[in-house]
Amino acid sequence: MRVIIRNTALEASEYIADYIISRIQKFRPTESQPFVLGLPTGSSPEIIYKTLVNRHRKGEISFKNVVTFNMDEYVGLPRDHPESYHSFMYKHFFSHVDIPPQNVNILDGNAPDLAVECASFEARIARYGGIELFLGGVGPDGHIAFNEPGSSLSSRTRVKTLAYDTILANSRFFDNDVDQVPRHALTVGIQTIMEAREVVIVATGAHKALAVEKGIEGGVNHMWTLSALQLHPHPLIVCDRDATLELKVKTVRYFESIEQAGTDARTQGPPLTYRPRMYVPGPVGLGKTHQELTPQTTPQKVPKDLRINTELSRSMEDDELTPDSMSSRMVDSAIGGLDSALKGDLFFDRMGARVLSH
Ligand code: GLP
Repeated sequence: MRVIIRNTALEASEYIADYIISRIQKFRPTESQPFVLGLPTGSSPEIIYKTLVNRHRKGEISFKNVVTFNMDEYVGLPRDHPESYHSFMYKHFFSHVDIPPQNVNILDGNAPDLAVECASFEARIARYGGIELFLGGVGPDGHIAFNEPGSSLSSRTRVKTLAYDTILANSRFFDNDVDQVPRHALTVGIQTIMEAREVVIVATGAHKALAVEKGIEGGVNHMWTLSALQLHPHPLIVCDRDATLELKVKTVRYFESIEQAGTDARTQGPPLTYRPRMYVPGPVGLGKTHQELTPQTTPQKVPKDLRINTELSRSMEDDELTPDSMSSRMVDSAIGGLDSALKGDLFFDRMGARVLSH
């Protein structure tokens, strides 16, 4: 495990943004071989997104050949709700960079069949050959994505009931009213994260110190799902000073000495190795026909704010996408949930091909 410590949340976030940019640049993604990036929501990554957007505006990084998979989404919260993770991602990142809308993958917490949605998500990740780098945050109780304490360390994308601690923590986004916080979420599993070639976690603030201690110094334990990363070949935890408050002085000095030795996380350890596709979708929807699981058209009811100007999108196809291309595709909103609206049929078709019908 590599742990990078910076004095402030800003410095920690800038380190991560720089790290992601260097990884993408080194990868030299193309349309046929895109860089597959896993992404989180939450307060912690906000500065990272801001930095990535600024670097993009300066022309230092393009996301044109980057495919993203978000970690999680609330169940039952309308997609255009200001606190949905769709809204968050478009507001903080996607609307400001040149990522093509069809490259964005966010779980649909309003899908008619949540199990099919989760299996489809895993299948999409597998189709891209797995995730190259999964960026994540950590909850004060040590959860990653929405893998709450007690989650199986072998878990995959699924529906999770949120822990009371998480509902309390996230009520700050819902007028401090716990009753407004959704009770369930769709989330990638621990195993989904573990199969990424590299995992980078941002942990900032004293309220994350216990989670960081349990995750780094404690044993591998499903009550602190961050600790699963101890079994990953390339985990990197980037903390600010406050998040290290519960770590032993010896632990902090050890990780600092690794960095001071001049071989920081970017050059440490064995070279990253190709991680083969490991996920084979199970026989979901037994008893249902292929037809039932494969809608032929995009659902009629697309919320007004999330409609896409497809004509504009078509006319822009031959052009280089500009930094504002995402926002210019939105009809009348600063945010939009564009992924499945654009590509949903294709994804369902692919999924349908994998479903066993009996
Ligand atoms: C939520 C998200 C996690 C995130 C955590 C911490 O539970 N599902 O992905 O890591 O919040 O968020 P924050 O960075 O706001 O503390």
